[in-house]
Amino acid sequence: MDQHNENNATIAIPDGKPARKLRVLLETYGCQMNEYDSQLVRSILIKDNFEFVDDLKTADVVVLNTCAVRDHAERKIFGRVHQIRHIRGKDNPLIIGILGCMATHLRKALLDDAGLKIDFIAGPDSYKNLKDIIREAQAKGPKSFDVTLSEFETYSDVYPARQKESVNAWVAIMRGCNNFCTFCVVPYTRGRERSRTLDNIMEEVKRLASEGFKQVTLLGQNVNSWHDGPHDFAYLMGQISQIKEIERIRFTSPHPKDFPDSLLDLMAVNPKVCRHIHLPLQAGSDRILEMMNRTYKAQEYLMLIDKIRSKIPHVVLTTDIIVGFPTETDEEFEDTRRIVEKVGFDSAFIFKYSQRQGTIAAKKYKDDVSDADKTKRIVLLNKIQQEITLQKNQAHIGQTHSVLIEPVLEGQGFNKAVGRTDGNKLVYLPLGENKPGDLVRVKITDASPHALKGEYCYSGFPFSRE
Ligand code: 5AD
Ligand code: SF4
Repeated sequence: MDQHNENNATIAIPDGKPARKLRVLLETYGCQMNEYDSQLVRSILIKDNFEFVDDLKTADVVVLNTCAVRDHAERKIFGRVHQIRHIRGKDNPLIIGILGCMATHLRKALLDDAGLKIDFIAGPDSYKNLKDIIREAQAKGPKSFDVTLSEFETYSDVYPARQKESVNAWVAIMRGCNNFCTFCVVPYTRGRERSRTLDNIMEEVKRLASEGFKQVTLLGQNVNSWHDGPHDFAYLMGQISQIKEIERIRFTSPHPKDFPDSLLDLMAVNPKVCRHIHLPLQAGSDRILEMMNRTYKAQEYLMLIDKIRSKIPHVVLTTDIIVGFPTETDEEFEDTRRIVEKVGFDSAFIFKYSQRQGTIAAKKYKDDVSDADKTKRIVLLNKIQQEITLQKNQAHIGQTHSVLIEPVLEGQGFNKAVGRTDGNKLVYLPLGENKPGDLVRVKITDASPHALKGEYCYSGFPFSRE
């Protein structure tokens, strides 16, 4: 890098042209919380006079916002760093930084890896210092880092730089996690649980409404434990639903251990609160659930599902499952399979157990289920779930739904409009006069395991929310 001026977000051009802003390419991996954090980072760096680019060739700095939840995610990032170095070559170097969960998880190991040549790392609570961290990497060469976790940082004073053409805005209402599920690295990489204040969240959502966003999705590692003094999560949802322009409110993810009746009652009656619950099961065997420190038994999970369905009959239920947790036997995997069949989730994310350094499971249990067994279990469970998902989707054929039209994303096909039902199912529609953000009535005409197909209903007959 060449010289930099005093605000350090510009780069001097050697041939005498005026200094220009430093160009940053930001790539995001992993969960929605990471997507949200990337929007925070954009906002912070734009204010600090950086410029964002999409092209690796023109970037001065590449920032990878990373995930450490599974080994696969980490390996993908290593591969990407090597690829970037290779593409840019020795004669055209640039600064590479790692943000997010991998930064805290691997810390110095990342910087010390001579092969990788990472110039700086910043953990999830250090984004306000990014300008200085990048400046140090520029000035002194590699090994600039800050992965200190905070008990207080909620970025309440940063308004994320979102893509304006979206209809949905993600809003992190809390950060961190105190649950310490034994397989999970998040409590270590993101630190202790902190809630943003009610007023601060309301201010953000009102601003989103005024900018034209129709839907908000409230984000947290454990949204049900959000609180502000006497106010709980259901209260927050109720308050947001009073903002006129916001048509839909979603949330992810709750923990089965504390799913309050007040939230279910609100979901049952409030038309803005979407009837979709992502409720991670993780495993169907009580012994494994205990080893995972999930703090519920399979029967308690099933009772909660019954209660949810009795209060909200057409609710869409999705889940996360881990197969091959240490010592899981074939019979215990069968327990998981039985629950999957019994509940009939609308869809499920199924993962092979991946040992994460520093977690309780990594310290206490040997990763002793062979990869072949994990593969056998995940393949079988995915096959069963796909059939269930197809049946669930086919059951909607002939029904009428309210669908929120979304912008068409790359790869979603030509000459089609796309939207989502209240239960978050993707619907393909003919191109009509509708635009993203419109709520339209749609009759479902076909279904696959991945999406529904529909046509617009122009007549005024009543439609179900789901
Ligand atoms: N191995 C496999 N899956 C994991 N998850 C979290 N940690 C691990 C791990 N070590 C899964 C859980 C969680 C989802 C976000 O990722 O199912 O709910
Ligand atoms: Fe990880 Fe469990 Fe916290 Fe979810 S609730 S982030 S799985 S520790």
